Amino acid sequence: MSVADDFDVVADRYDVMVGLSPGYHQDLRRSVRRLGLIEPARRPLRVLDLGCGTGASTRAILSVHPGAEITAVDASAGMLAAARAKQWPSQVDFLHAQAEHVTEALAAVDAPDAFDGVLAAYLVRSVSDRDGVLGAARGLLAPGGRLAVHEYSVADSRRAQLTWRLVCRGVITPTGWLVSRHTALYRYLERSVLDFDGVAAFRQRLSAAGFADVRVVPMSGWQRGILHTFLGTRPR
Ligand SMILES: C[S@@+](CC[C@H](N)C(=O)[O-])C[C@H]1O[C@@H](n2cnc3c(N)ncnc32)[C@H](O)[C@@H]1O
Repeated sequence: MSVADDFDVVADRYDVMVGLSPGYHQDLRRSVRRLGLIEPARRPLRVLDLGCGTGASTRAILSVHPGAEITAVDASAGMLAAARAKQWPSQVDFLHAQAEHVTEALAAVDAPDAFDGVLAAYLVRSVSDRDGVLGAARGLLAPGGRLAVHEYSVADSRRAQLTWRLVCRGVITPTGWLVSRHTALYRYLERSVLDFDGVAAFRQRLSAAGFADVRVVPMSGWQRGILHTFLGTRPR
């Protein structure tokens, strides 16, 4: 079973779960603002939301850039159905595709192929080919376009690892069970974050994928040192 299949199973409870997570939506908006996107003079901003899920990250983009044209992509049919069921302005499009094949999927539906910004929130840890997906994101950005990877990374800090384990076992997995009667996805969440690149390694991965001005900015509160916005720019 793929990660997207696991998300299918919890899709109808996903929004309840993230609604119980303090700061979830605020942190997404923070990463969107950190992209620092500037609306072009002659056309709307174009933003790609990779791994949009039920649309929380799509909504974050819209709340920071209300006029943006957004293409939102996800591999889980269930998560996308939950996203599509919501009210969206006409300039928001959803596409069922794997991030690993996003370039071909966008070309097949005649979607924009040069974005001003790409947001990948809680996605990169789960894809089968991280370098390939980062390379595709770079290729889909216009020169000077910006990438924000909103992601957990704890491998560089023992303290962050301990806090993460405690929060998963004491809060996230029990709450996930109460809300969805499933634990597989929450156990996956704990393990995949522990196994993911450390901050230094992921910065290096972004540079190797051809991004310039690579930076990492932390979140606040208990997630400081755990959840980060990784930023990079496609060189002009
Ligand atoms: C934790 S959710 C995050 C959703 C949304 N970005 C948010 O911030 O709420 C991760 C999403 O990534 C999707 N996903 C996982 N692997 C994927 C892949 N290889 N390609 C595209 N989407 C994928 C899942 O289906 C899921 O909807």
